[in-house]
Amino acid sequence: MGFRQDFIWGVATSSYQIEGAAAEDGKGPSIWDVYSHTPGRVFEGHTGDIACDHYHRYREDVALMAKLGVKAYRFSLSWPRIFPEGKGEVNEKGLAFYSDLVDELLSHGITPYITLYHWDQPYSLYRQGGWLNPESPNWFAEYAGTVARRLGDRVKHYITFNEPQVFIGLAFVDGVHAPGYRLPRKETLLMAHHVLLAHGMAAQAIRAAVPDAKVGYAPTSNVPVPASDKAEDIRASERAYFEMPENGDWSWNVAWWSDPVLLGHYPEDGLRILEPDLPRFGPNDLKTIAQPLDFYGQNIYRGVPTRAKDGGWEEVAHAPGSPKTAIGWHVDFDCLYWGVKFLYNRYHTPVIITENGMSATDWPSLDGQIHDASRIDYLHRHLLGLRRAASEGAEIAGYFEWSFMDNFEWNRGYSDRFGLVYVDYETQKRIPKDSFHWYAQVIRENGANL
Ligand code: FCB
Repeated sequence: MGFRQDFIWGVATSSYQIEGAAAEDGKGPSIWDVYSHTPGRVFEGHTGDIACDHYHRYREDVALMAKLGVKAYRFSLSWPRIFPEGKGEVNEKGLAFYSDLVDELLSHGITPYITLYHWDQPYSLYRQGGWLNPESPNWFAEYAGTVARRLGDRVKHYITFNEPQVFIGLAFVDGVHAPGYRLPRKETLLMAHHVLLAHGMAAQAIRAAVPDAKVGYAPTSNVPVPASDKAEDIRASERAYFEMPENGDWSWNVAWWSDPVLLGHYPEDGLRILEPDLPRFGPNDLKTIAQPLDFYGQNIYRGVPTRAKDGGWEEVAHAPGSPKTAIGWHVDFDCLYWGVKFLYNRYHTPVIITENGMSATDWPSLDGQIHDASRIDYLHRHLLGLRRAASEGAEIAGYFEWSFMDNFEWNRGYSDRFGLVYVDYETQKRIPKDSFHWYAQVIRENGANL
């Protein structure tokens, strides 16, 4: 069995990483605008001020997507482009940009998948406490409802949050993403709870405005990949994926971020281990958080070889010289296979891979083309794993390659290239890479050529 006939082949991007026009047409600043302009935070002082200038070039970009043949495009909205202050008055010009982008996509037969939050929080809300403020779920729900009311006649697919592990964990536990400082665990757990509430309330607001909306959520994970095909290593890996580490290092725990949303309760082990720092939960909070979802998005790039040990598990070091991508991430070709299998076993909700892809040291060769053979091989092997998981019964609705084009890779600036399309940031010239042509063929054949 291959990919289902209605499989959604897509590509993904996010607002701050590609749009540019950071202070144009009334857009307010986001935490990433401020952070990238703070000396020492981003590689070589890069910012998203111009990025891929997609704000002005979206027609050209959508035409390329049409050439690629994607069925769907996942992009995020810049919240402060729509609400410069995060709430209150809508900035009509900002909303008009997204409305025009949606029309352009639809005129090419490409289905828009909107991510509401891909990390660029309005700076004004951050100054009011951001996700620590108990009002923050209301702010987000109001924004989500406005977007759904204004675009919902044409946009039916919504993703509330992208990778809360990163915009709470990397931002406030590790302090290396905007706004970039470390807070005590008590505070970060409170933020996480507000984010989950915001997710549930936004899902309600979207459905109230667009009854036929399809709503999902897109956390991320590094997948424990069984180090052998022994049953005990497989079991140990699945446990390692979901169990809370005894040291209370919670921010990458899959169950903490997904059980409340999909099962309607926080995981028992997490409640026990984190007990001293837990927020006070409201009586209806979990009911609000656990809105029925149409799909469970998951961003997966990496695996961690894992094996059974003493009734528990341990990570196994990657072999010396084993494959790595340009960003320095180890490659485990089976991470999609195991990830989707484990996630579907636990949550029984159709999975969409909302991101997967790799950074490479791409540059134009003498012939002017970008020969990114390693990316083709990476995608090929990951898609084989995804297909295998589908053939063994996991319900997989789609796959969004990250990314449509090279872009601003957060604190690493423009030093990492993840795109299927090469971007020359000096001239803004786009060059489809070899992987672009390869992926176009995969889409045309619905993966039968893999
Ligand atoms: C994910 C992010 C995305 C991009 C890729 C490489 O964590 O969601 O914006 O940076 O990694």
